[in-house]
Amino acid sequence: MSLNKDKVYSDLKELRKNAYAPYSNFRVSCIIYLKNGNEIKGVNVENAAYNPTICAERSALTQMIAQGYNKNDVEIVALYTDSEELGSPCGTCRQTLFELLLENQEIWVYNKNKFVNSFKVIDFLPYAFTSKNIK
Ligand code: THU
Repeated sequence: MSLNKDKVYSDLKELRKNAYAPYSNFRVSCIIYLKNGNEIKGVNVENAAYNPTICAERSALTQMIAQGYNKNDVEIVALYTDSEELGSPCGTCRQTLFELLLENQEIWVYNKNKFVNSFKVIDFLPYAFTSKNIK
């Protein structure tokens, strides 16, 4: 499967409209492209109590698991934020990305203006705390 970076960007921009972000007004979208061609979409969903807010990445990853897929089914993870800067995943999402994806999984990061860079999961969380640490 070959994904087009511009098409992915326009899909992420369209998906960002679904974000529920009345408090921050900062929209984030995430699409997990599976090897079988399916797409799993996530957006940030905020809450007046703030704490229950879920980020776009974890929104997509939890659906991936609920739908019966796992790390071996993933082709590309694409992430968009409304940022002018890099707009990289928060700490909690880094830990969840590490838990549920291969450490070499490619993540394409886009911001408000453009494709920024391609990263690997391990880039976001070197020395991660993992299941190995609790054996
Ligand atoms: N947000 C995400 O969805 N993903 C991240 O990795 C960073 C932050 C959301 C949470 C909140 O709804 C808004 O961005 C502002 O922090």
